[in-house]
Amino acid sequence: MEKIIIHGGRRLRGEVRVSGAKNAALPLLFATLLAPGVHRVDNVPRLRDIATVEKLLSTLGAGVSWRDDLFEVEVGELREVEAPYDLVRTMRASVLVLGPLLARLGQARVSLPGGCAIGARPINLHLKGLEAMGARITLDHGYVEARAKRLHGARIYFDIPTVGGTENLMMAASLAKGTTVLENAACEPEIVDLAEALNKMGARVEGAGTETVTIEGVDELRPLRHTVMADRIEAGTFMVAAAITRGDIRVEGADPAHLGAVISKLREAGAEVIEEQGGVRVRGPRRVLPVDIKTIPHPGFPTDMQAQFMALMSLGSGTSIINENVFENRFMHVCELQRMGADISIEGHMATVKGVRGLLGAPVMATDLRASACLILAGLAAENTTEISRVYHLDRGYERIEEKFNSLGAAIERVRE
Ligand code: UD1
Repeated sequence: MEKIIIHGGRRLRGEVRVSGAKNAALPLLFATLLAPGVHRVDNVPRLRDIATVEKLLSTLGAGVSWRDDLFEVEVGELREVEAPYDLVRTMRASVLVLGPLLARLGQARVSLPGGCAIGARPINLHLKGLEAMGARITLDHGYVEARAKRLHGARIYFDIPTVGGTENLMMAASLAKGTTVLENAACEPEIVDLAEALNKMGARVEGAGTETVTIEGVDELRPLRHTVMADRIEAGTFMVAAAITRGDIRVEGADPAHLGAVISKLREAGAEVIEEQGGVRVRGPRRVLPVDIKTIPHPGFPTDMQAQFMALMSLGSGTSIINENVFENRFMHVCELQRMGADISIEGHMATVKGVRGLLGAPVMATDLRASACLILAGLAAENTTEISRVYHLDRGYERIEEKFNSLGAAIERVRE
């Protein structure tokens, strides 16, 4: 097992480039199942979750290979229709094969993901949508089995805007007969990236990025050529790093159009945020001001930035209230921050963060992907040394993280336990 050791207390300065977005790359790579041929996707980040995609695509019978950041998928006759428990368990997003497999092959068998560190996270809305499009869905030994001769268009209303649900149904509807309308759809930038990719494959998707997405089904699609968008959550994490270390970082590739809520809250916290050509520069404040945050679907403040912001607020000059409205149980990082001297109490979905003057390094444990990022940020700002164990969570979603932080002046090393 590896752990990360951070010698804190250094101001970070310089320029760092964000990688391709994990959450955009995952659905895009599964979308390749929709068309036979050789697909080429550029700017795919080298992450553990992407390695899981490689395994899953290979299991299904596709050929996968890398040329630098270019990911190639060769889709021929698929020999499998099953996403096994072992893969879905390590990455919930594996359920995104459901839509493409069902649309292309008329059947799919996908393990139910079960619980995860940040809550129950059901997929009932994905299934309800597919049923409305004519799929017969049964449950067998923890697996969802879906069958349909050919899916047909439908009008589908999501009770909650779901990112994965919107993506799964967009992919399925691309090869369905007739028109599908998704209402109360999620509006995240990754959905827009997927819609653009599907349209390059010959699909007819309109309205992605708004609450109503319309997909006119086509009979067949062609191979994909696409470059994955920059990772807005990785960008946001570096921006908070500038604020929490009172540093000065230019985040190359950060797109302000995707980061409105994060930029606005960083400014409220006293940071100087400058939107530049091709990136965003953040200068940290002398003293962090307390800021209240409510996570809500895009364009609201992203739940995937909540933990990182809490690290910043733990050093605020007053009390901040953080409401987590997207996932239940997404406060696992709180106990770890407390071990570093943070003063945080939780009541249901609300955390009250009373700012302290400084954090102290401590051995802490990463519990999920964004919680790991939160602990790195806290460690960068803390006095002395912070040791983070279970770093495999971090490797699921951050590419070359210690190398990137060290290039900004941090002192982070990875050691084998
Ligand atoms: C995606 C992101 C994740 C991010 C989340 C919210 C990927 C791979 N992951 O996750 O990083 O934190 O969006 O921005 O892109 N829900 C249901 N039933 C469903 C589906 C969802 O009740 O069928 C609920 C969930 O439990 C959650 C809320 O809807 O409370 C939003 O979840 P959703 O948008 O689906 O998140 P994911 O797509 O899993």
